[in-house]
Amino acid sequence: MKIGVLCSRVRVEEKQIFTALAQRGVPYDRLDPRELVLEPGRNGLERYDAVLVRCLSHSHAYYATRWLEDLGIRAVSSHQVVATCGDKLLTTAALQAAGLPVPRSVIAFTPEAALQTIESLGYPVVLKPLVGSWGRLLARINDRDAAEALLEHKATLGGTQHGVFYIQEYIDKPGHDIRTLVVGDKVVCAIYRRSDHWITNTARGGEALPCPLTPKLVELSLAAAQAVGGGIVAVDLLENREGQLLVNEVNHTPEFHGAMQATEADIAGTMVEYLWQIARGKA
Ligand SMILES: Nc1ncnc2c1ncn2[C@@H]1O[C@H](COP(=O)(O)OP(=O)(O)O)[C@@H](O)[C@H]1O
Ligand SMILES: [Mg+2]
Repeated sequence: MKIGVLCSRVRVEEKQIFTALAQRGVPYDRLDPRELVLEPGRNGLERYDAVLVRCLSHSHAYYATRWLEDLGIRAVSSHQVVATCGDKLLTTAALQAAGLPVPRSVIAFTPEAALQTIESLGYPVVLKPLVGSWGRLLARINDRDAAEALLEHKATLGGTQHGVFYIQEYIDKPGHDIRTLVVGDKVVCAIYRRSDHWITNTARGGEALPCPLTPKLVELSLAAAQAVGGGIVAVDLLENREGQLLVNEVNHTPEFHGAMQATEADIAGTMVEYLWQIARGKA
């Protein structure tokens, strides 16, 4: 039995994962995606029973998981989870198909159609890139002037990403969002990400604070994880003015440095134990 950990940069999370693997005597190798040369259908990694994918690059994770699964190796996250969670529209669609509450979300394919949609949703709205993380390139649009300017910039600057406009209602949340970490059928912990800015990612200065795991939060987090294919994921939730929880997105390669500070949960240990079960075909 052997585990592979695919990661380019060893961050505090990967250090903890390596320590948890070593503490449990689990044989593992670190695999660096920058050094891998992969030929579909052939060799290389058959000696691994499961590979934990911790790539920073979404496209590396996307293609590596497809290839690993072709070789019969379980990838965590799986290719299906990476493909779905790597795209905000596919994630929303999967959550909606599972009947889960999500912020109202619309896509349009031209700046004109986008402007019309924004006007009919009412201000403010949020415009997001389909692929991205750490709150990058998110825009809250407060009025028509801003909408016109932003849409024109996106249309003019171009790029494959900018031809699809993903527009979401703005949720007037109470100064924080909620992030839960799901491993298999367990919700390991929850944190509030508090910020004076409307974008609350810890990568953008949001402060991680302990959040009680209520039955509703557990139920919604497990359902959201299941909706995208399960495994090890982080679920972002927004609470609206009425106190209803909405699932904002699900992340396939969760960072958990914030949760490590705010909770006592043994996150890396729980991940490693789940991975070991996967490797032995028990999960
Ligand atoms: N519709 C929204 N209404 C209010 N806040 C939002 C909305 N969408 C995102 N946010 C805020 O921005 C943060 C980042 O958005 P998210 O969709 O999770 O993108 P990323 O993948 O970059 O983390 C969220 O954690 C939340 O604080
Ligand atoms: Mg997020």
